[in-house]
Amino acid sequence: MRHLISIADLSREEILELLRTAEKLKENRKRGIFDEKLKNKTLAMLFELPSTRTRISFEVAMLELGGNALYLNWYDLQLGRGEPIKDTARVLSRYVHGIMIRAKKHETVEELAKFASIPVINGLSNIEHPCQVLADLLTIYEYKGLNARIVWLGDGNNVCNSLILLSAILGFEMVVSCPKGYEPSLLSRALQLGGKIVLERDPKKAVENADVLYTDVWVSMGQEAEKESRLKAFRGYEISRELLDHAKKDAIVMHCMPVHRGEEITDDVIESDNSVIYDQAENRLHMQKAVLLKLLS
Ligand code: CP
Ligand code: NVA
Repeated sequence: MRHLISIADLSREEILELLRTAEKLKENRKRGIFDEKLKNKTLAMLFELPSTRTRISFEVAMLELGGNALYLNWYDLQLGRGEPIKDTARVLSRYVHGIMIRAKKHETVEELAKFASIPVINGLSNIEHPCQVLADLLTIYEYKGLNARIVWLGDGNNVCNSLILLSAILGFEMVVSCPKGYEPSLLSRALQLGGKIVLERDPKKAVENADVLYTDVWVSMGQEAEKESRLKAFRGYEISRELLDHAKKDAIVMHCMPVHRGEEITDDVIESDNSVIYDQAENRLHMQKAVLLKLLS
């Protein structure tokens, strides 16, 4: 059974194949060409945390591929009353053809995959967000090709973990600029995979020669209790016009969204020509179709 739990579940060749498929699907959609390859297939989408982009792009992806998608709120299911994940996994496997799950803990995603007899897709956990960075690869490819210097600013979180693994697999040069204590937890894993990843505490030095500046919220879902200490720790790591001026002139600015203007990024940078955040959001749809075709057909 093939699952997508970590971006490192995929080989370089598989990632490049997904990129080609997503590019083709995007082009086809523009021309009004839809191929119903997932007719009569149903994807269950299980959410323990909120979502706008992941939920809607997966649902539209399934519909445009001729299939169905079920939105399942964790707390409306018996899961919310304590039914074990392993029973939920086995029952869902009798009804649907794939499960996308967004969970508070990465172990929940792994447990679901262990007991499901159908493909499981990680739609964000505290450790990784593989679907996000696959879509981001399409965005980076569209603007910069496959030879970009990527700089991550701020919290070394779930998105950062997946991005350093992706960069290691594809050979992107990456700089991570974060305060002490907020390094990505999968850094040693990415280095083991041969990643060209450097830590640079000073954000101004970090963005020198950057093709891509990427940031994400300083307080991820589930970290609300740490809000005060986090806002303090990340001071100075905000992407502002001044910081952007230290990067290459044509650097693109990325953010997986939702954006907290005035925290990790300023409103004028988000609204500037350097920002590609809405392309990123759109590309979730095209890349998720590619992932669904690979795992469900
Ligand atoms: N980027 C992302 O996953 O957004 P949502 O939380 O809205 O799904
Ligand atoms: N790091 C953020 C990403 C949201 C898509 C979070 O986990 O809340």
